[in-house]
Amino acid sequence: MADKKTFYITTPIYYPSGKLTIGNAYTTVAADSMARYKRAQGYDTFFLTGDDEHGLKIEQKAEAQGIKPQEYVDKMADSYKKLWKMLDISYDKFIRTSDPEHVAAVQKIFEKLLKQGDIYLGEYTGWYSVEDEEYFTESQLAEVYKDDDGNVIGGKAPSGHEVRLVKEPSYFFKMSKYADRLVEYYKEHPDFILPHSREKEMINNFIKPGLEDLSVTRTTVDWGIPVPSDPKHVVYVWIDALSNYITALGYGSDDDSLFKKYWPADVHLVGKEIVRFHTIYWPIMLMALGLPLPKQIFGHGWVLMKDGKMSKSKGNAVYPEMIVERYGLDALRYYLMREIPFGSDGIFTPEDFVERVNFDLANDLGNLLNRTVSMINQYQDGMVAPVVKDQDEFGEDLMKTAKETIAEYEKQMDALHFSQALDAVWKLISRANKYIDETTPWTLNKEGKKEELSRVMTNLAESLRLVAILISPIMTQNPVQMFKQLGLDWNNADQKKLEFGGFGWNVKVTEKPTPIFPRLKNDVEVKYIKEQMKKAKPKKQTRSEQKQEKHITIDDFDKVKIQVGQILSVEPVKGSNKLLMFKLDFGDGQERQILSGIRKFYPDASELLDKKVLAVTNLKPRKMLGHESQGMLLSSEKNGEVKLAIVSDEHANGAQLG
Ligand code: MSP
Repeated sequence: MADKKTFYITTPIYYPSGKLTIGNAYTTVAADSMARYKRAQGYDTFFLTGDDEHGLKIEQKAEAQGIKPQEYVDKMADSYKKLWKMLDISYDKFIRTSDPEHVAAVQKIFEKLLKQGDIYLGEYTGWYSVEDEEYFTESQLAEVYKDDDGNVIGGKAPSGHEVRLVKEPSYFFKMSKYADRLVEYYKEHPDFILPHSREKEMINNFIKPGLEDLSVTRTTVDWGIPVPSDPKHVVYVWIDALSNYITALGYGSDDDSLFKKYWPADVHLVGKEIVRFHTIYWPIMLMALGLPLPKQIFGHGWVLMKDGKMSKSKGNAVYPEMIVERYGLDALRYYLMREIPFGSDGIFTPEDFVERVNFDLANDLGNLLNRTVSMINQYQDGMVAPVVKDQDEFGEDLMKTAKETIAEYEKQMDALHFSQALDAVWKLISRANKYIDETTPWTLNKEGKKEELSRVMTNLAESLRLVAILISPIMTQNPVQMFKQLGLDWNNADQKKLEFGGFGWNVKVTEKPTPIFPRLKNDVEVKYIKEQMKKAKPKKQTRSEQKQEKHITIDDFDKVKIQVGQILSVEPVKGSNKLLMFKLDFGDGQERQILSGIRKFYPDASELLDKKVLAVTNLKPRKMLGHESQGMLLSSEKNGEVKLAIVSDEHANGAQLG
């Protein structure tokens, strides 16, 4: 027997930096719907999702919770898997970039690219915000300062914090070398990037102006994959993240049978802001590795809110758990796939959500099922007779619509047009509802036209059987209930033939009709969703409020080691107008280096020499602009004026406060 055709689909791997919103769920539900559709069509399908666990942000999150990065990402990965379970996401593998197999494979990939000269050591120049601990390119800055000649000399990060120019050693990937081959590839594969408009964007905005070499390592980040031949460097973001699509299949390991079977991917689903990485960097990496390119990258749009992007701090984020708990999973999955045409942006409003559930699900679909099952029970004692060949004009038209619906649905699903595919299904639902009005079964019953009535009931049941099958990749729970109410068995493949008359019926309905989607009270539910969104907004607290909020125990206090240190030297940090670098004596015969952002309060820092100050000495060391800071100097702040906590000479160096 010939091998089954394979289908490999992926989602981006999410940064585990917080709770996932319905925006993140959007890609994953889309990928899951596609995977289910392909499986149902008989494809041997592999569906990959996962998370992107390395980097400074994650390190900071872990630090804020007082735990190790590994412990933090373990917790987050578990919470994501829990969410995917709640959303019925049928992934075949959840990759984590801290998986040892992934780490080893990325190291191999890096060394190979280095050895063959695609990666070289250079110097990274970029804009760095100490407060955000993040690098920005000039174009990402919210504000730039220029000198008289128009040279950029500083600026502000999107957070509003000042940035400064930093230079540090970094490895670079020679992107430009592959630019022509890439454009050629686009030309030969017109459906490589979808929607097509995104291809033009890539060529005009990034490739034509000249591809810059990509900085692929950092020396100022610890939580990452070390470069084996130069472990001061960790692999920075994209080589680590993008490789997941092949390392998950065992590329670079002893067992690469999955890789041989499924690569190249049929489609990578990604949000529009990361299309660039997937359609430029990723294909170039693969070319350099001598591997085939994915068949397609689909850049979908964003789920937005009326006031722009969803964010926890704005109080406009919608979390999937809340929707699922109150309205059921299928309401969420249906809404996401129906409301926003895949590829475009869309706006979530509680009003639209409630309307969709009420109109499409409770009215159109729910009522059709309810009326049909009720009539079958009432008029025919639950019996659905076999499908008959000779139909009247209305029956013929219903059959025709069903046939067209299936063809249109498949065409749209194959193109990842989920919304249009559902549109087609709802045409059939409307047609079936109209069929009830046209045939008026209650009159047929009254007039004793048993044969006609029976034909109408079978046609309705058959339409609903098809609808259940068609929506099942997107809605995972209701089709099973629909089958049950129609006297069918979801696990019986014979009953799932996708063709009008594909199942012979002669079935007895035993279930009582129960609404699959209760009608929602518009204003009550809109209010409910809005309240939940507000509830999720974190209250802004100042640091001192946070400190005052609750009592701490003496054990909490004992965790903080505060010692007296004497300043041996102090100098400004190059490239920063905030930081001073101190060397201090804590009485243990070793110099300790601490950085502090107080430069502007001590224009003549030499006045601090020999002074005795207080410092927290058991904080985890961290790097600032490439320099390690081994503690924190204590200072006081009032009305924006900051002063170091200086103590008198009678305190011995190293003496501990308590
Ligand atoms: N870690 C990278 C991806 C690496 S893939 C090799 C990343 N992570 S992310 O968590 O920031 O974003 C993951 C995906 O979620 C992106 O595709 C992004 O577009 C998507 N979304 C996040 N919020 C979204 C909406 N509000 N709407 C739709 N998609 C959104 O980028």
